[in-house]
Amino acid sequence: MTLQDILKLAPVVPVLIIEEEAHAVPLAKALVAGGLYALEVTLRTPVALDSIRRIAGEVEGAVVGAGTITTASARQSVADAGAKFGVSPGLIEGEGFDGPVPLLPGIATATELMWGLRAGYTHFKLFPANIVGGVGALKAFASPFPQATFCPTGGVSLDNAADYLAQPNVICVGGSWVAPMDAVRAGDWGRITELARAASQLGKAA
Ligand code: 3PG
Repeated sequence: MTLQDILKLAPVVPVLIIEEEAHAVPLAKALVAGGLYALEVTLRTPVALDSIRRIAGEVEGAVVGAGTITTASARQSVADAGAKFGVSPGLIEGEGFDGPVPLLPGIATATELMWGLRAGYTHFKLFPANIVGGVGALKAFASPFPQATFCPTGGVSLDNAADYLAQPNVICVGGSWVAPMDAVRAGDWGRITELARAASQLGKAA
């Protein structure tokens, strides 16, 4: 599956911070039950790699990826754990599109976008989307950079996701709102499935 195929699976890629490995499988199952399939497990907790491994091995229908990749070695580690894609908050020096997992790098400016295009990327995370110009920035990038497609992330919610998804150069959005920490900690998988269902019914044609 190409990165583009993965990003087209659903309109929203959940950004997940998993504090306990025991949460990984039920959380991923709850999101898949709600219609969200590409899941970004951020490398922000000690159990992130094990969580990726568990989801990759145990959750049918999930396409697990890793987020907060900031080094080449982390990109290799997540591939070894079974991640099918990676997400980075920015461009990683020396890392192009080709590598152990396809990478969705974050960009915030035209210069970063130009560097990314030169490194072979066509899909970018606009990050942090709401801070660096939101829909206005995407409209402004569309004309000089018709070859670039975006997954805006950072400050995206059910309230503004549809505006982002309506942009022709947006393939999907990313966000943590579908897996609130209080629901995860409480094991409220039903609530997470409901949030995922609402998110999966947003705009973008799959
Ligand atoms: C992140 O890396 O934490 C993402 O950008 C998620 O942002 P959000 O919490 O605003 O959805």
